[in-house]
Amino acid sequence: MRLLLAGDTHGNLGHVRRILGAAADRGIEHVFQLGDFGYWEHEHSGVRFLDSVHRAARDHGVTVYFLDGNHDKSGLIHERYGDRPDAEGFLQVRGRIRYAPRGHTWTWDGVRFLAFGGARSVDKDERLKEEARRHQKAARKEGHRIAAGRPPAEVRDFAGTLWFPEEEATDDDVRRIVAAASAAGGTADASGTADASGTADASGIDVLLTHDKPRATRPGTDRKDLAICHPNQVRVQRLIDALHPRLAAHGHLHYRYTATLTGPLATTRVEGLAADPGASWGLPGYKAPDSWLEVDTATL
Ligand SMILES: [Fe+2]
Ligand SMILES: [Fe+2]
Repeated sequence: MRLLLAGDTHGNLGHVRRILGAAADRGIEHVFQLGDFGYWEHEHSGVRFLDSVHRAARDHGVTVYFLDGNHDKSGLIHERYGDRPDAEGFLQVRGRIRYAPRGHTWTWDGVRFLAFGGARSVDKDERLKEEARRHQKAARKEGHRIAAGRPPAEVRDFAGTLWFPEEEATDDDVRRIVAAASAAGGTADASGTADASGTADASGIDVLLTHDKPRATRPGTDRKDLAICHPNQVRVQRLIDALHPRLAAHGHLHYRYTATLTGPLATTRVEGLAADPGASWGLPGYKAPDSWLEVDTATL
């Protein structure tokens, strides 16, 4: 089975269409997007984006799977679609759009996958300030309305519209995921380290799909190499160290690179994918095709 991995799309419909076209050209029916997809269903524009992606995917004969980036309102996905898992445990956001919750595992063509969304926003403070500014502006406008004798109306609270408190995974998430993977098929222990009897694929996880990068890789360009970002990168690294997947792919950096992580038990190929053009200004050598990667499960 072949699938197309895709980097951050940030609600850029034109870029998503380009990815879907690339999949259809290759006869690929499964696109897996690695977070910062553009899940903003709390806004009208976000609803339109999802509806449009669904229609475009249907027209191309493709299903889009995604995990959550720091700029996806993942809490709302669980709220709206948590009771709607499909046969493989993905949440059905639209007919042709499925969400993989943190820690979700599934098997395609005998290959075991694990999804782990989330990352730290480097612009968290700016986003919180902008939410507060918008609320104050709405409150001022309402004050003018009341002064003009108009009936009172609700002032919109913009909290949770630009920054999402659930954006980062937790250490408990990692412990839970490693324990579940261990129980399902392996010998890695719940602390996130492989035990002495662990074999190269003891956990049974072949492919780890994340939004954030593992701590140990050193891409040529890394705008997220900041102390505030490191804890979540360590969580991704712990999953690799405990589960030793053969392939780990991620987005978030908006930068295409390939790395190899060699541990005591296994070697993991890491693929970082580029993003949509709108999020890639100033990145040297950017090419849109760097934001997708064909993977053939037969060659993993
Ligand atoms: Fe992004
Ligand atoms: Fe991100």
